[in-house]
Amino acid sequence: MSIRNRLLFWLLSGLTILGACFVLADYLIDRALLADIYDDQMSQIAFAIPPHFSNSDLERSAPPLKYDGDDSILQIWDRNEKLSYSSHPDILLPRFATPGFSEVRWRGSEWKLFIRKTDSNLIQVAQSLSGRRNIAVEHALRSLIPLLIFLLIMGLLIHWSVGTGLQSLTRLSQELEKRTPDKLGRLASQDQPAEIKPLTQALDTLLQRLSIALEGQKKFIADASHELRTPLATLQIQTQLVEQSLGSGREAHALADLKAGVKRTSHLLEQLLMVSRLESAAIQDQHVPLQLHQIAREVTIDLIPYANMRKINLGVEQLDAGAVIGSEHHLHILLRNLIDNAVRYTPSGGQVDVTIRARQDDILLEIEDSGPGIPPAERERVFDRFYRCLVPQATGSGLGLAIVKHVAELHQAEVQLGQAQRLRGLKASVIFKRAA
Ligand SMILES: Nc1ncnc2c1ncn2[C@@H]1O[C@H](COP(=O)(O)OP(=O)(O)OP(=O)(O)O)[C@@H](O)[C@H]1O
Ligand SMILES: [Mg+2]
Repeated sequence: MSIRNRLLFWLLSGLTILGACFVLADYLIDRALLADIYDDQMSQIAFAIPPHFSNSDLERSAPPLKYDGDDSILQIWDRNEKLSYSSHPDILLPRFATPGFSEVRWRGSEWKLFIRKTDSNLIQVAQSLSGRRNIAVEHALRSLIPLLIFLLIMGLLIHWSVGTGLQSLTRLSQELEKRTPDKLGRLASQDQPAEIKPLTQALDTLLQRLSIALEGQKKFIADASHELRTPLATLQIQTQLVEQSLGSGREAHALADLKAGVKRTSHLLEQLLMVSRLESAAIQDQHVPLQLHQIAREVTIDLIPYANMRKINLGVEQLDAGAVIGSEHHLHILLRNLIDNAVRYTPSGGQVDVTIRARQDDILLEIEDSGPGIPPAERERVFDRFYRCLVPQATGSGLGLAIVKHVAELHQAEVQLGQAQRLRGLKASVIFKRAA
């Protein structure tokens, strides 16, 4: 049911019930008032008859009438209990004797009586009680007419005012319909009722977020294709070099270069895939309690061959047990990227230490190396996608730390880069909340 019909239904139902109560109260008050008035009238009629009267005088001044349901009937009996006068000869009530007011049943209906006795007569005035009730009902029904007119006017007013109020909703949906992925501007909120403004504001925030996300995706795709261009071009050259080297004795060298090129390109693709997976909310892994030190140990062991190849002493300094809530797969990726950076950017013969410290409220992961570190001015920028510091051994894709930051955000953890106290190189710290 539409808002307009709902409002109409409830308001008019309420008003109708109120009106019905009003009519009922009107009827009850009318009935009581009319009873008083008619009682007075009956006694006045009885007392208006003079003690001695001639029948013909009375018949002349009050000729007999036809009974119409609510008339007062006057009857007079003489000393010999002979009916000497009746105002309505068509209704001949019997002679009752109790003086004053009384109620009797006669021929299935109830009558109110007033009886006055004089020396020579008995005067009886009677009125039907159902006749009295009918008059009260008639009065109450008459007051229904203004009520119905009032309900009609109210209905029209509600219909009109709700329609005007809802116009701003229609305008809002028209505005929304005009929005397209490349036109997500703000919605006009002037002249809007206070009830609709929060909705417009919420929609605006959503549109803004959507537009930022869309911009980000567009930029990512542009950057990714740009980043892919260089390694693909390099691969092409390297293939040509392999071709040219055939039979020259330099084949092995050219092939090794080509293999390294393929490896770099596939690493870039892997990192790109990781970024896009992390960004699609649908693939957000279930978060469960995990032992961070176990993951750190596994990743370190995995990377020892690579460290050995680069002649780096990779080891663990301290691994406290402590549970964090998260995704095992994502935490593997975070640790792998941080340790990979430390091993990769530390010159041969250097050292990399992995530490996990369980503290009161959090768990601190630290990866320290004896490499060149990152100058303070660049410690924020290295988290941007595709950003690489200008160092000779920069062979990566520039996505590792962006991935680390994203994973940390998914775990409500904080990543910081600083200088390692002992090893003098980079210290990458991630502070996780402790699982309860
Ligand atoms: N431990 C480190 N010591 C010195 N420089 C570092 C270290 N870690 C990262 N950097 C610098 O920060 C830059 C960004 O690192 P990031 O991990 O984001 O990208 P990458 O290592 O170049 O590529 P990827 O990790 O995707 O293979 C690197 O290019 C490097 O110059
Ligand atoms: Mg890296």
